[in-house]
Parts: sequence; structure tokens; C-alpha cells
Amino acid sequence: NGIHRIFSGIQPTGIPHLGNYLGAIESWVSLQEECSSILFSVVDLHSITVPQDPAVLHQSILDMTAVLLACGINPEKSILFQQSQVPEHSELSWILGCLVRMPRLQNLPQWKTKNDSLKQEGTVGLFTYPVLQAADILLYKSTHVPVGEDQIKHMELVRDLAQRFNKKYGEFFPVPKSLLTSMKKVKSLRDPSAKMSKSDPDKLATIRITDSPEEIVMKFRKAVTDFTSEVTYSPSTRLGVSNMVDIHAAMTGLTVEEVIHQSAGLDTARYKDVVADAVIQKFAPIKREVERLSVEKDYLKKVLQVGAEKARELAKPVCQEVKKLVGF
Ligand code: ADP
Ligand code: NA
Repeated sequence: NGIHRIFSGIQPTGIPHLGNYLGAIESWVSLQEECSSILFSVVDLHSITVPQDPAVLHQSILDMTAVLLACGINPEKSILFQQSQVPEHSELSWILGCLVRMPRLQNLPQWKTKNDSLKQEGTVGLFTYPVLQAADILLYKSTHVPVGEDQIKHMELVRDLAQRFNKKYGEFFPVPKSLLTSMKKVKSLRDPSAKMSKSDPDKLATIRITDSPEEIVMKFRKAVTDFTSEVTYSPSTRLGVSNMVDIHAAMTGLTVEEVIHQSAGLDTARYKDVVADAVIQKFAPIKREVERLSVEKDYLKKVLQVGAEKARELAKPVCQEVKKLVGF
């Protein structure tokens, strides 16, 4: 399949939600069967582009590690590591940053939206984080990167930086390709015109992987639907119900048609309980495993330490070679 090496990262910001699970983590788990060289990074350097409480950040790194393991990331098959433990990420990021001009970063859509949402002008770190993202990927000479649609512009920058480096210093980096996830964005339960997001102030809008069954039922019961009581699938006109059908299908492995067929005769109020139950069933073993692992802090740290050693074995020679090419 031409996939030689995959890199992907996730920020350690709290317990992942249903959107993160379906849009990222679940596909990472299945990629382990398709490629024998995969790196999954808890990208903590990216987290401090916006203010972080040190104790909360530290805990979030362990929480994210526990969740990834519980979801099926296998540290024997993949290299699971914490970004800041491999200093070559920062080193390569500096070198790549010297190959890109300010307007190229200014024009990235996420800089505009994120910067506009802040009360003060954003930090230099927030501005240059797509360069660090490029370094994350290129440091391992990755050939493929699983991404959501929102990251397409950033992947163009990564490819661009690989090509610029190669042009200036000689063919060195493979130009990585995106592996687009097929999953539609999971929508907010409270405002199905928006995506489910961890930063949503409405706590009822977002299902977390470790939510209790009671919380999951309650959140679905409070989900916004519409005035039609039948369960039908029409993502353009019935956003709330269609989002639930998508979630139901993804959680059970059924097709949308099968879900609709099964749910004929249910009204949306009863259907909410059916979808909640599908989510509860799917997340129950993951939740149990997260709870078991979250008290095994030494084990989690060991996994990250071994992962960082393996990642560094790959990163070091690449970084050394880059520095030689640059003339250091
Ligand atoms: P959030 O949007 O909650 O802040 P992140 O931006 O940290 O989440 O995203 C982590 C991963 O989860 C990314 O790969 C992103 O594409 C995916 N993701 C985030 N929200 C959703 C969603 N609502 N539906 C599908 N995938 C999502
Ligand atoms: Na986000």
C-alpha cells in the first residue's frame, strides 16, 4: 500500500470525546494492522501554545496515554510517546521555521480563527505551531499522516516545507501524504450545526469516553433534535437526528440504512435511549480499562519512556543528517 511510516499526534487536553474517538483514535487503532512503522505522539509542546496549568497538563498527559492504550493502541506495534521527551522535534522545528515566511503562516485559517478568539494577540508559539507540526512529521521521514479535513491546509504546509528543504539542501525528506479519515465530523449534541468539541462551554454537548452510563443517557435525552418524531436520515435538513444516526452507525458498525431500518417505528425520544445505549456498550470496556490504567502511573510513565527511546532512535540520525546538510 506504499505506506512506509505513519505519524500522528493528539494534544493532551483532557479526556477525549466521541468526536476525537471516531475522528481520530479509532482509525489509529486500525492503522496498526496496515503499517508496521507507526508513531503516535502525545503532543504536549503543542498544548502550551495556549495557557496551561502545569499540574493539569501533567495529569492530562497521563490521562491521554491511558485512553490511547485503553482504546487499543498497542505499544508493541506502535511507538507511543510524549513529544517533549524527544528534543529533536524542537530542533527541526527551528530549522524549518527559517524556511517559511510570515505571510504563509498568517494565511492559515486556524491561525486567523484561533487568534481572533483570544482576548490578546496570540503567542509566537501559537503562530508557529504548524511549523512544529511539520517537524513532528518530517523528523521521522513519515510518508503518511492521518488527518481530518480541518488539517488539510496544514498538511499543504508540511509538504511545502519538505519540498523547500529538499530543493535547498538536496533530496532528503519524503513528501508526506494525507490519509483522510472517512468519518464525518461528530456534531455537538446541543447545537448540531457545530462540531462536538472539548472546548464547548455547554457540558451537555460533548460525550467523553469516560462518562458514566447515567451521564450518557442524560446528555442524549437533552440532545437538540426537531419537531418531527420519526427517525429519518437527512444530514442537510435534520442535523440533530442525522448526527445521532451517524453516531449509532459508527458505534455499532451498522450502515446508516441498517440503523434506519432497525429504528423504524421509534420516535426520536425513544431513539435517543437506543443511541445512548450503543455508546455505553462501546465505551464500557474502554472506560473500565482507562480506570484500571489511570492508577498505574508508573506503568504509564514506563510506556512513554520506552516509546521516547524508540522514537529518539529514529529521530537522532535524521536530525544529525539535517544539521549536516544545513552546514552546522
Ligand atoms: P477538539 O476539536 O475537541 O479541540 P482536537 O482539535 O484536539 O479536538 O482534535 C483531535 C482529533 O480529533 C483531530 O484529529 C480532529 O480532527 C478530531 N476531532 C475533533 N473533533 C472532532 C469531531 N467533532 N468529529 C470528528 N473528529 C473530531
Ligand atoms: Na480543536
